[in-house]
Amino acid sequence: MIDGESHRLAVLASGRGSNLEAIMAAEEAGWLGLEIALVLSDQPEARALDLARGRNVPVAVVEYCREAGREAFGDALLGACRDHRVTSVALAGFMRILPENFLDEYPDRVFNIHPSLLPAFPGLRAQAQALEYGVKVSGCTVHLVDAGVDTGPVVMQASVPVYPGDDEAALAARILRSEHRLYPRALALFARGRLRRDGRRVRVLDA
Ligand code: GRF
Repeated sequence: MIDGESHRLAVLASGRGSNLEAIMAAEEAGWLGLEIALVLSDQPEARALDLARGRNVPVAVVEYCREAGREAFGDALLGACRDHRVTSVALAGFMRILPENFLDEYPDRVFNIHPSLLPAFPGLRAQAQALEYGVKVSGCTVHLVDAGVDTGPVVMQASVPVYPGDDEAALAARILRSEHRLYPRALALFARGRLRRDGRRVRVLDA
């Protein structure tokens, strides 16, 4: 069972923060089942931080320092999360790969959302990759985070059509609307202890 007793969530975001908004809206509506204990960014000017401040959610900034290296970055992230007694983590447009020392602290308790149907089109500009490949359907994936890039076990997926006239912006906007529905739902299932991991497979248990 993926630990459903984890109730203090950190959301890590580098930019716009629209998924953070969707998660905060679910918390405010009373069905998330997790308390957003911290919004953390590696970018001091991230809009996500302003959104959090606007709702009195604690924020922290941990900038990546190349000279100090990845482990020090992981330690700094861990320090902020420990300060806020964080028990689970949701990446929402966080543009850094999490160091292993950070992941080790939160086994099966770090989630990410990616704008494609993984394992298709991992990495950057997934929507452009999908258009270039010529797929007719794309979507988004909530997955557990492992040491790779978009390689962790799939938790939930939602598909959207790709239309002949789509450009990258149009497809990204359609996928993003779907992300905003999917991510809070996946986190709510986690909060209720309804995710069970069996190797690479994550099963959603009946209520
Ligand atoms: C989303 O498309 C998400 O799938 C990807 O980064 C983007 C973040 O958007 N990982 P936002 O900051 O949540 O608006």
